[in-house]
This record gives sequence, C-alpha cells and structure tokens, in this order.
Amino acid sequence: MQKDSPVRTILVAILLCFVCSILVTSAAVLLRSKQEKNKILDVKKNLLLASGIIQNPKPTEQEILEAYETVRAEIVDLSSGETVSTFEIESFDERKMSKDPKHSYKIPVDKDTAGIKVRAKYNLAYKIFENDELSMIVLPVNGKGLWSTLYGFIALAPDTRIIKGIGFYEHAETPGLGGEVDNVLWKNQWAGKLALDENYQPIFQVNKGVVTPSTVNHESKVDGLSGATITSNGVTGLVRYWLGEDAYGPYLEKLRQSLKGKRVKT
Ligand SMILES: Cc1cc2nc3c(=O)[nH]c(=O)nc-3n(C[C@H](O)[C@H](O)[C@H](O)COP(=O)(O)O)c2cc1C
Repeated sequence: MQKDSPVRTILVAILLCFVCSILVTSAAVLLRSKQEKNKILDVKKNLLLASGIIQNPKPTEQEILEAYETVRAEIVDLSSGETVSTFEIESFDERKMSKDPKHSYKIPVDKDTAGIKVRAKYNLAYKIFENDELSMIVLPVNGKGLWSTLYGFIALAPDTRIIKGIGFYEHAETPGLGGEVDNVLWKNQWAGKLALDENYQPIFQVNKGVVTPSTVNHESKVDGLSGATITSNGVTGLVRYWLGEDAYGPYLEKLRQSLKGKRVKT
C-alpha cells in the first residue's frame, strides 16, 4: 500500500479513533470512583463553610474530614418531619429523587416561594455537635434566582430560629449582581438574624436596600443585593420555603420538642 494512499489515511484515522476511545473510556471508568469521592467531599466542604465551622475556602481533605466528625447526617421525611433509615446517607441524591415520580412531591403553587415546582419527599438534615451538645442544624436549600436555581446550606442555632450561617455552592447568577450571594461581607450579615418569628413562622427577608437599626424588623433582614432584586427575592423565597410548613417545618418542630429540657449550645 502506498504511504500516502487514501485507504492508508482512512485506516490510520480509524486506528487513532479506536485508541483514543479506549483511552477516554478507561479514564472515565478509572476516575469514576474518585469523582464520586470528590463529590461527597465537596458537599461536606460546602456544609462546613456555610455553617462557619471552617473558614478557609480551600481546605485540605484532612481538614474537611476532621471538621466533619462533628456532623451527624440524617434523612428526613419532610411531610411528617420524622427521620427515616430507608436510604443510604452517603449516596442519597435529592436532585435525582426529585425527578423520580415515586419519590417526588409537587409543591402547591401558593406555597412554592422557592419557585422550584417539585422537590424530593425526603431530604438530608445535618446536626452539628460540640462536646456532645447540639450546636447547629444545617439544612440544604435551593430555589430560583434570576438565571438559575441556587443550591446551598443554611445553618440554624438549636432553637431553630436564629441563623448561624448561609452559603451557596452552585448557581449561575451574574457576577457582581446576583452573584454577590457569594460575597463574604454579605454572608457575614446573616449570622444572628432571625429566620423564624416567635410562632416559628418564616420571617427572614433579604431587604430592598440597606438594613439599618431603624429598618422595620431589622433583626430578620439582611441588605438587598444592589441591582439584583430578583436574586434577592429568590433568596428570601427559598429560605422561607425550606424553613416553612411545606418543607422542614415539621422536622424543626419535632426537633424543638425533642430538645425541651436538654442541654444545647446557645
Ligand atoms: C446582563 C444582566 C445581568 C443581570 N443579572 C442579574 C442577576 O444576576 N440577578 C438579578 O436579580 N438581576 C440581574 N439583572 C437585573 C435584572 O434584570 C433586574 O433589572 C434587577 O433584578 C432589578 O433589580 P434592582 O431593582 O435592584 O435594580 C441583570 C441585568 C442584566 C442586564
């Protein structure tokens, strides 16, 4: 066969495609378990950052695993607030479940302040302990902003009313506008704010404009994101939905009952 014949060119191309496809397939298969492990580690990191247990935004694997030892995860049946042991915690995937008709719940329009239409019937909740005393509850939250669904964690004090921290680990809001949800100075305002009123109804709000001591209900408000009212309202809506009666409300109520008379970190 001639060195530069068309047949030879085609054969070389086919061979090259074959070798490359073997390489890509092998890499995908070999890296799958590493990717899974990194995904789990990433969730842990985001949860620890949102709750303020770690501050370094780029912690090492060891730092994450050590800090995570204080965390106990459980899976909650959101309609009853009961914890269940039907699912494996490490592989629990709320997003996958929300797409499965058997495990999903269609949110009534008048209750859907997060704008997500559907959620899984079950979701994770995390309890954080300090010297065997409950110090925080961390809940996964998500809701619509302007361009995207924001995914994050909200950390509450054991009284379930006071916010300890917030963090979004996934969204596609505009950097400098809605993307300011990631701004540390803005997030720092959340700690100490009231998520729920004295009747345990969601009250938290991202304000329109700056919050001052004279702002009405300033104890439950943080500054609005300037030029990003839609994202700001989305954040208000998602916090109120997930802490409300149609989501974690029953779980939080059960938790408060179970903590009556017990020692908790204040
Ligand atoms: C390119 C572009 C990107 C924008 N990104 C966002 C965003 O991420 N979040 C948001 O709420 N508004 C965003 N806006 C602005 C909204 O369209 C809307 O004007 C704004 O939310 C109103 O907020 P304001 O009342 O604070 O100005 C963007 C506008 C433009 C032109």
